[in-house]
Amino acid sequence: MKMSIKKLAKLANVSATTVSLVLNNKPSRISESKKSEIKELAQLHDYEPNFSAINLVMKQSKTIGLLIPDIENLFFSALAKKVEDELRQEGYSLIFVNSNDDYKQDLSLLKNLVNRGVDGLLLTVANDSIKHKSSYESLLKRLNTPFVMVDRNIGNPNHPQVFFDNKLGGYMATQYLIEKGYKKIACLSTKDISVNGLYRYEGYVKALEQAGYNIDQSIVFSGDYRFQSGYEIADKLILENCDALFAGNDLMAYGVIKRLRELGKNVPNDIEVVGYDNLEFSRMLGLELPSIEQNISDLGKKSVELLLNIINNHPVDTVIELKPTFKKY
Ligand code: RIB
Repeated sequence: MKMSIKKLAKLANVSATTVSLVLNNKPSRISESKKSEIKELAQLHDYEPNFSAINLVMKQSKTIGLLIPDIENLFFSALAKKVEDELRQEGYSLIFVNSNDDYKQDLSLLKNLVNRGVDGLLLTVANDSIKHKSSYESLLKRLNTPFVMVDRNIGNPNHPQVFFDNKLGGYMATQYLIEKGYKKIACLSTKDISVNGLYRYEGYVKALEQAGYNIDQSIVFSGDYRFQSGYEIADKLILENCDALFAGNDLMAYGVIKRLRELGKNVPNDIEVVGYDNLEFSRMLGLELPSIEQNISDLGKKSVELLLNIINNHPVDTVIELKPTFKKY
């Protein structure tokens, strides 16, 4: 016979709430002897928590929902792993969902997570979310569930959020190429589809203008953070006689490098490429790709800390900006 929280309570002659508080190690005024008795009964009867029952009693699921846009990008899979590690230490479980960078999927998946009874949400919204702010704002208000925008946001400073200084990242990447003496520095930017990409592009412009370079829009190319969008613009770098490129993330940089090598070009001797995210893939493949690092461990840890503080009504600063770093390789 499966032991339930109610049967345990009857055996221990206490309420179901008392059993739940004791088994969840929550603070209470229950005597140590009674706590021991309840825990021994639970062990004796092989009690396994029935989370739907606990949810009802405790009015919480100890589960957090994580929305990410592209699980195939190591940046996000590493973030999901870090978030789960942090939550597990706090006694929480994780449900993560992948939107394929589609805002409609975002909105549908957010409702799905809340319907599953999560206690809070960590959101890395789709690239196109910025064009649908009102849809997100009205849904988040309706869902009325604690949330933190992670890495990306929809431009509302009142939202709890943890992100990196993307303009500084674009500036550092471009500054490195300027200091190496390159004269025609291209940019593979996601500025048309991404807030982060726009700020990275602004950092590129700031560094060039400070160094007296003209901004040449004929060597500013559009990407979508994915490998293929880098592969497809590599030929134009040669046609435009570029000697360097700042790519808005490493996956696009990988696409550029693959195509340049197919065309017989040497990276960095013919064209130097700087990426963004400093993915572990580069070291696994022995690819000496200078890149801007957004410390995923810090991002995950700070995001989880902020969300749990909000859930537990601890007063905290809700906007946290982190600093990226330049990694030569
Ligand atoms: O590689 C994907 C990019 O999108 C990362 O740079 C991260 O900042 C996310 O916004």
